[in-house]
Amino acid sequence: MKTLKDFDFANKRILVRCDFNVPLGEEGNILDDFKISQSIPTLLYLIEKRAKLILISHLGRPDGKVVEDLRLSPVGEKLSGLLSLPVRKLGDCVGNLIEAEIKEMQPGEVILLENVQFNPGEKENNLKFAKILAGYADIFIMEAFGQAHRNYASIASIPKYIPSGAGILLEKEINNLSKVLDNSEKPLIAIIGGKKVETKLKLIDKISENADFVIIGGLLQKELKEKNIKLKYPKKIIGPVDETGRGLDIGPKSIKLFKEKISLAKTIFWNGPLGKIEEEEFSRGTAEIAKAIIQNQAFSVAGGGETIEFIRRINLTDKFNHISTGGGAMLAFLAGEKLPGIKALK
Ligand code: 3PG
Repeated sequence: MKTLKDFDFANKRILVRCDFNVPLGEEGNILDDFKISQSIPTLLYLIEKRAKLILISHLGRPDGKVVEDLRLSPVGEKLSGLLSLPVRKLGDCVGNLIEAEIKEMQPGEVILLENVQFNPGEKENNLKFAKILAGYADIFIMEAFGQAHRNYASIASIPKYIPSGAGILLEKEINNLSKVLDNSEKPLIAIIGGKKVETKLKLIDKISENADFVIIGGLLQKELKEKNIKLKYPKKIIGPVDETGRGLDIGPKSIKLFKEKISLAKTIFWNGPLGKIEEEEFSRGTAEIAKAIIQNQAFSVAGGGETIEFIRRINLTDKFNHISTGGGAMLAFLAGEKLPGIKALK
């Protein structure tokens, strides 16, 4: 897989697929710019190399049609602030006007195309659509780790048409998550919480191959029991031994037990809350576990929407070695699946 150092970008048009799918407030304001800020090193690198940058992203799930509330205008403004440069947000991602704008670009300029999922060709993985997008540029850089599990045109098919490589964020995600998957320093402890056990089963089984212990949250434990689901490595699983707050949080004995295990680890992976963290009174267990992870000197990786939001809420973001920008993509990667957006670059 090629990375930024393998290309000469000067005066070239570079198409960068970013994942700017950020949470929006009722006023259309960006609630959390983590995903945007994580793409900045790649974008600054390319600008410094005097490239002409054409950025693509999706936002929300517009399902192939224009949804006014899902235009990328707030992302363009945020990006412009973070780069300290003008970012020209265009009104579409295909058409004569767009092509004319791109032709006139100067080195160091940045254009942001409109939400790529407004076009039905994106989710259909339409090759004609992918070819049009690829036609805008000399080189494609894939930076959207959060979408790498989707078999969509701008993710899986642009690399069929132009030289392509991974951006800094994608490379970092692959390297750090691989340390959890197969190159970890032992003991490796995985902590998996949240709900909907079906979405986590493959991850629990796969990570158990390599992990010494897998700590699972209360709801997952209940679901496993209720649905009579058998895990591949039951001896490695540690569940809560008590609960508090009418079963909505893990209890003091569980916190103690989990902390003891965490203190032994050299690598720790964490995804999913251990209690109903939306409510302050049931977030104590999760906060205690988060603190125990960062107090240990282990290599620590965390990810998933709710987990990231919680880590930010308690101001621990900088303390983790790696916070993944991927939700579904991270779970799929760690479950051992080959992600279309990474496969396409190989
Ligand atoms: C994310 O926010 O996790 C990614 O952007 C994926 O979005 P999607 O699930 O709508 O494809």
